[in-house]
Amino acid sequence: MADPRQPHLVVFTGSGISAESGIQTFRAGDGLWAEHPIEEVATPQAWRRDPARVLNFYNLRREQVRRARPNAAHKALAELERQGFRVSIITQNIDDLHERAGSRNVLHLHGEILKARSTVDARMQYPLPRGGIELGDICDKGSQLRPDVVWFGESVPHFGEACEIVAEADMLLVVGTSLAVMPAASLLEHTPLDAPSVLVDPEAAALAPPGVFRISQPAGKGVPELVRYWRREGRLW
Ligand code: APR
Repeated sequence: MADPRQPHLVVFTGSGISAESGIQTFRAGDGLWAEHPIEEVATPQAWRRDPARVLNFYNLRREQVRRARPNAAHKALAELERQGFRVSIITQNIDDLHERAGSRNVLHLHGEILKARSTVDARMQYPLPRGGIELGDICDKGSQLRPDVVWFGESVPHFGEACEIVAEADMLLVVGTSLAVMPAASLLEHTPLDAPSVLVDPEAAALAPPGVFRISQPAGKGVPELVRYWRREGRLW
C-alpha cells in the first residue's frame, strides 16, 4: 500500500504505450484513422447513420485488444506501484493493458472497449455480451447497447477527476501520445508549477510543450529505464 505522504507520480498515457503490444496508434500514416475515417466510425453521427458499421469496427478492435499482452512499459509502471510508490495512471487508451500488467489505480478518460453502455445514458453500464455487441442487443431499459467509449464530439465524463489528480502530482510522466486531442492534452496545464513533467515518445523532441523534458525513445525502453532509476534511488527526485 502506497504511503499517501510519498511523492505522487501521475502517468498520462496514449496509444503509443500499447504500440509495442501490437495495438495500432491513431495518427501515423498507417494509423487507425487512416484506415477507418473518424467520421465513419467514431462520432455520434456515424452511430446514427450506420450503427452496424460502428459496432463492427469496435468488435474487431476488441479482438485486437484481447490478443495483445502488456509490454515492458505497462509492466514497469505496475511494478513501481507494487514496490510501494504512489502511482496514478490516467489513460486515453480504451484497452485494459495497464490493469492486466497489475496497475490498480487507472482512470480511463476515453472509456473502455471491454465494457458496454446504454445508447441513451453513459452512466448505465452493462457487461459485454458474449461475442461482442450486435444490433438488437438492448439494455434492461430497452435501448441499444454501444461500446463504453467516448466518441469525437462527446463530453469526457472523467475529465474533472483527471484534472484533480494531475493537480496533485509531484511528477507527471506522459507516455506515447501526440497530445493532439482536447480536452485530454490540456491536462498538462494542470500540473503544479514545481512538478517536473517528462514525455517518453519517439517523437518527443517535436511534441513536447515548452518546459517538458523529452525522452525520444519507444515506451518499452524509455519507461523501464526511468522506473529502474526511481527504484534504485527509492524516490522520484
Ligand atoms: N512508444 C511510445 N510512443 C510511441 C510508440 C512507442 N513504441 N510508437 C508510437 N508512439 C507515439 C507516436 O510518436 C505518437 O506521438 O504514440 C503517439 C500516438 O499518437 P496518436 O496516434 O495521436 O494517438 P493518441 O495520442 O493516443 O490519441 C489520443 O485520440 O483518436 C483519439 O481517442 C483517441 O485516445 C485517442 C486520442
